[in-house]
Amino acid sequence: MSDSPRLVTCGLPYTNGSCHLGHLRTYVPADMYVRYLRHRGEEVVFICGSDNHGTPIVVSAEALGTTPAELSRRYHEHFDTTFRRMGVRFDHFGMTDGPTNHRRTQAIVSALEEKGHIYMERIQQSYCPKCQRFLPDRYVMGLCPHCGAEARGDECDQGCGKHLEPGEIRAPVCTVCSTPAELREQEHYFFRLSTFAPFLVEHLEHLKGTANARNYAQGWVREGLRDWCITRTLEWGVRYPGRDDLVVYVWVDAPIGYISFTEEWAAEHGVDWKRYWCGDTEVTHFIGGDITYHHCIFWPALLKGAGYGLPTAVVASGMLKVDDHKFSKSRGYVVWTNEDYLDLGLPADCLRYYLLAYTSHTKELNFSWRAFADRVNNELVNTFGNFVHRSLHFAHTQFGGVPAVPARDEVLAEIRQTMAAIDTAMNEYEFKTAVDAVLGLAASGNTLIQSNAPWKLIKTDRDAAAQVIADALQIVRALAILIDPVMPETAGRIWGMLGLPDPIADEGLEGCTAPLAPGPLAMPTPLFSRIEEKRVTELDALLTARVAEAESRACSAPSGDAPLTIDEFSRMELVVGRVLQAEPIKKSKKLLRLVVDVGTEERQIVSGIAGHYTPGELVGTDVIVIANLAPAVLFGIESRGMILAAGDEASLLVPMRPVAPGTRVR
Ligand code: 2FM
Ligand code: ZN
Repeated sequence: MSDSPRLVTCGLPYTNGSCHLGHLRTYVPADMYVRYLRHRGEEVVFICGSDNHGTPIVVSAEALGTTPAELSRRYHEHFDTTFRRMGVRFDHFGMTDGPTNHRRTQAIVSALEEKGHIYMERIQQSYCPKCQRFLPDRYVMGLCPHCGAEARGDECDQGCGKHLEPGEIRAPVCTVCSTPAELREQEHYFFRLSTFAPFLVEHLEHLKGTANARNYAQGWVREGLRDWCITRTLEWGVRYPGRDDLVVYVWVDAPIGYISFTEEWAAEHGVDWKRYWCGDTEVTHFIGGDITYHHCIFWPALLKGAGYGLPTAVVASGMLKVDDHKFSKSRGYVVWTNEDYLDLGLPADCLRYYLLAYTSHTKELNFSWRAFADRVNNELVNTFGNFVHRSLHFAHTQFGGVPAVPARDEVLAEIRQTMAAIDTAMNEYEFKTAVDAVLGLAASGNTLIQSNAPWKLIKTDRDAAAQVIADALQIVRALAILIDPVMPETAGRIWGMLGLPDPIADEGLEGCTAPLAPGPLAMPTPLFSRIEEKRVTELDALLTARVAEAESRACSAPSGDAPLTIDEFSRMELVVGRVLQAEPIKKSKKLLRLVVDVGTEERQIVSGIAGHYTPGELVGTDVIVIANLAPAVLFGIESRGMILAAGDEASLLVPMRPVAPGTRVR
């Protein structure tokens, strides 16, 4: 344990999409870590914010007909609220587009220039002759120069994962209009990253955190580092000092956000931010494994070059799968935090537990509703919840509260042993091992009760029964503190049921073995509810529907880079259909079951338009149907076809003049 304050950060979410499980896989463990350190008595500041710049946000804003600033404000609030709902409690959640970050970024870039770490060069950049503009990052697609895979302008996202420099991508095409790009010369600024190789070798040797981050980064340094282009031709971003036509690359100002947000927090609390970034404070970054290069190579080199303190540890989370498929928003293998989980009334704590207990932090986490339900039912309901409930219930009904007898030494010893195992695991960022140790203590509590059968003992030896319950309650007390980093809401409830004063977050770890004062206890309420089979089926159906919807979207919308041939188009059987019946689908807010006359037969089609039309207004309407789409089962109902609609309001495509059902659309 260190005496100096610590700073923990989480990778900043981009403000162009909603919070999903992929985000939580990093934020929940970071939050657990911070809560644990605080129980251990350490002074920790937990900082995060939203990442507002870069081309993905400009592209999304253009597509939605809004401004990047407005889009960022909207998603910033979304993330702030969602993290709170999930119990992820940052001390400050800033915005990279805020004035502090603009100022700090320009100060750092100017310092790097003064120290000679930046030079200007004329380079060949992708330019779209049709849109008449340079094509930074996501505005260009093409082939990766390293592995040949299809790649986007700044990253080989489908292939080798390498960062691509401006002008490097082969066969570039404009993502807005699909026109092949030309190369044109333009002035850009480069950070002399290559000169930082000896420094990085040394830095990485001492970098703490997970081995995956360190090992990858060491490999990249060994492969050789190239200088890094840190400017882009964009309106949106932090202006490059002295240039009206350039902004800094988002991966410069985003990590600088960690410093700026610390400054904002420090100003609010009357402390000096330099204590965290220019002194010997331990800085720990929690990130997704895919942004290791940025945090272990670019970032420490920038900090070193500008004369700031260096990160102490980088903790990188492993990959996420959904139902055995690579996590993918576009293919529907995604679980949205609000829509698919919290808004359905599922408890944040259960998901936190699952994410932490499923596997080691650096390994692949394969999410499925089945596995989720099994773990909640077996581990939280049957083991943890059952033990806490039966202990409190027995204490209340048989003794009216905590019996006046201290816990036995061997029970205290077992609690201490668990605490030691947790501490070792937390120091090694092995969150699963720590959670398993807490559950192990709960299981041992269950064995204590089961083997002593206090419900029998009370009839023959009341004192012996009181001892068993005193031991059990001591374990309950320890469990509340030890589970708080994992399930803070649950921990608070246990604390309350033990009649202890709020908030449990202020309790030190030594409180695990502190005696419980004898006294009355109220009737306890169960901690968790079972996830029933029916619920699992419904949740699975939601996911299946999303995947089917994504597939049909992919069938009907060719990816913009290869033009659709007439043969491909004629393979699609588009026909006029007349809606004969329409009805809502139970448990689904979005879907309607339609029966549609497509000329040759009556088809059952499930359509996601329930939010926009009442069943009544659809019956009798002629619509356009893709009739040869592969069938899909949504909410247990087979759908054979898809109705075409346009835009966010799902405006239905309808024939302008009357035509018979079954008429082919050409
Ligand atoms: O990959 C991402 O989602 C980035 N928005 C993370 C930025 S983390 C930090 F460097 F700012
Ligand atoms: Zn590649």
